[in-house]
Amino acid sequence: MSSTLVTNIGQLLTNDPTIGTLTDAALIYTDGKVSWVGSKSQAPSADERIDADGASVIPGFVDSHTHAAFAGDRLNDFLARIAGTTYATGGINTTVSATRGASDGALRNHLENVVTEFTSQGITTFEIKSGYGLDVETETRLLRLAKEFTDETTFLGAHVVPKEFASNRRDYIDLVRGAMLDSAAPYAKWIDVFCDSGAFTPDEAREIILAGSQKGLLGRLHGNQMGDTGGVELAVELGVASVDHCTHVSDKALEALAASQTVATLLPGAEFSTRSTYPDARRFFAAGVQVALATDFNPGSSYIASMPFVIAIAVRDMFFSPEQAVVAATLGGAHALRRTDVGHLGIGARADVVILDAPSFEYLAYRPGSQLIKQVLVANP
Ligand code: NIG
Ligand code: FE
Repeated sequence: MSSTLVTNIGQLLTNDPTIGTLTDAALIYTDGKVSWVGSKSQAPSADERIDADGASVIPGFVDSHTHAAFAGDRLNDFLARIAGTTYATGGINTTVSATRGASDGALRNHLENVVTEFTSQGITTFEIKSGYGLDVETETRLLRLAKEFTDETTFLGAHVVPKEFASNRRDYIDLVRGAMLDSAAPYAKWIDVFCDSGAFTPDEAREIILAGSQKGLLGRLHGNQMGDTGGVELAVELGVASVDHCTHVSDKALEALAASQTVATLLPGAEFSTRSTYPDARRFFAAGVQVALATDFNPGSSYIASMPFVIAIAVRDMFFSPEQAVVAATLGGAHALRRTDVGHLGIGARADVVILDAPSFEYLAYRPGSQLIKQVLVANP
């Protein structure tokens, strides 16, 4: 048994309703789990001691939506876009070509670099989707490699219809729900579909998610990024864990979401990078919807690995309060992954702890662009 005391915490955000946010606090973790939280003057001793020097301490960020498994970049798409073109889903095929041609070693090396960057930004739990293989071999390979880095792996064979199936999309859907799913399933926990214009219809998405459920995969969806195209309604109908993007969503759909167990995961990096209109988070909170924030890290629409940056945009442009944004990026992400062990620092939680270089978590929104992640403690289970 080994215990560590983190003391001299100026502000401790626990996200635990029975503990709340404490000042002049301390926290002890034992064998990778939080074992004591309270006032620093009452803290028992422990084997090791970390001095937070009066800083704010928060739970590690939970990034519930990334497309980290890819090769190449889409700089040319980005340059065209900032010169005036609009984001289109067809660019995904460019990344598919680069990814199919990449070796396991190159993909693993890329993933290692991304994960190092995630950690340096305070992300201690992250999901990784496939979706840049779009053939049986490459989708399986991406998930096998992603699984070396996280248990939260998601099969996204239904990202777009690849070029070679452009004139027979039905055959592609059958492949995704048949041989591709069979091959990918051992490496995936989740199944996702890009349900939107330019990708898959709600009927196609339903068929694919249900096929995944039959193989024991849990559902999540991309919905309402490109338009109000029925993804949110489908997510509620299927009871999936999360529907992600929600850029264009009606009041009626918000009401349905609020009455469901489905989390709305907002991805401000995508609106930022594609110069799209942001959804207004106040509508989601007023309706009583559970909200998460994630990076959507991908080379096309959000080449952003920084949760602090996502929080800053969410506050500036989506009208989250700083507290709502930090909670959405921690506890919200955990809910979106149906995890109860992360996203908070209650007793028994995984000791994934971020010490900020700031006296309060509001600084994450107040000082965008500064490196405010001072120390990241990741539990070794
Ligand atoms: O979440 N929306 C679908 N997938 C990604 C974009 C992928 C890409 O453009 O490469 C997203 O924004
Ligand atoms: Fe995405």
